Amino acid sequence: MHFLNFNRLEGKVALITGGASGIGEITARVFARHGAKVVIADVNDLLGHSVRDSLGQDTASYVHCDVTDESHVKATVAEAISAYGKLDIMFNNAGIVDPNKARIVDNDKADFERVLAVNVTGVFLGIKHAAQAMIPARRGCIINTASISSGIGGSASHAYTCAKHAVVGLTRNAAVELGQFGIRVNCLSPFGCATPLATEFMGLGPAEMEASIGAMANLKGATLKAEDVANAALFLASNEARYVSCHNLFIDGGVTAVNPSFHMFQYPPEEA
Ligand SMILES: NC(=O)c1ccc[n+]([C@@H]2O[C@H](COP(=O)([O-])OP(=O)(O)OC[C@H]3O[C@@H](n4cnc5c(N)ncnc54)[C@H](O)[C@@H]3O)[C@@H](O)[C@H]2O)c1
Repeated sequence: MHFLNFNRLEGKVALITGGASGIGEITARVFARHGAKVVIADVNDLLGHSVRDSLGQDTASYVHCDVTDESHVKATVAEAISAYGKLDIMFNNAGIVDPNKARIVDNDKADFERVLAVNVTGVFLGIKHAAQAMIPARRGCIINTASISSGIGGSASHAYTCAKHAVVGLTRNAAVELGQFGIRVNCLSPFGCATPLATEFMGLGPAEMEASIGAMANLKGATLKAEDVANAALFLASNEARYVSCHNLFIDGGVTAVNPSFHMFQYPPEEA
């Protein structure tokens, strides 16, 4: 892993939902490496405990938290405050995908509602209970994980695309409301990186998925890793982003800004 300057989160307390795997796990590692105390909240207790153990019990704790259950989210925020005295950073990152079905007529209502429950209601509850803790402190940083599907159609299922657009709406509304208390609210919109969620969605192994994403990418010569998303979260969480709020930060190498069918700047193969 490549780390930028150390200790950019010294003295901060962060709660990360979906912190047992993928982007959340790597973010927990990056935040801890930069001096934060980290509360990992997840439904996968085995992985959650293992991430906690590898970070060390002085640095991290694990709480079983289903983000769709308000009593869990409330208790997890309370746990962070009881363990570390405050909550500076709330990373609402837990997310799921539904089966990749090309036709809306084949999509099930139950799958649609399940995705919205985790990816939207879970983010709403995370913002709500973080705000409850942060408003009296008159400071705080909330980061939500959206996706490139927050800005374009046709890159994921109807449920997932709808959910990630909703995350941007929630981010904007919360940033407007909570700005008066000095609380910043932003979201991250990554392109595909080979985590269990994404490989499951694409039905590919990690190497095949990276090759497939690489072929679609605008920016060549680099492959998006969970670490790149974690570093963007680190920036938003750090004091370096102290005036950044209400922002949807795309980590996509420009892919969502491009319509490749124009072929405007396509160099001949021997020059590319
Ligand atoms: N990997 C990508 O390509 C990609 C791209 C864009 C956005 N995202 C988003 O990034 C976030 C993290 O996904 P990831 O790729 O790291 O996936 P992942 O599957 O590796 O991690 C997701 C974590 O969320 C947890 N989780 C699922 N349901 C939960 C619930 N109800 N309560 C608490 N925790 C729950 C899982 O147990 C898992 O540990 C998601 O919001 C996803 O939509 C991922």
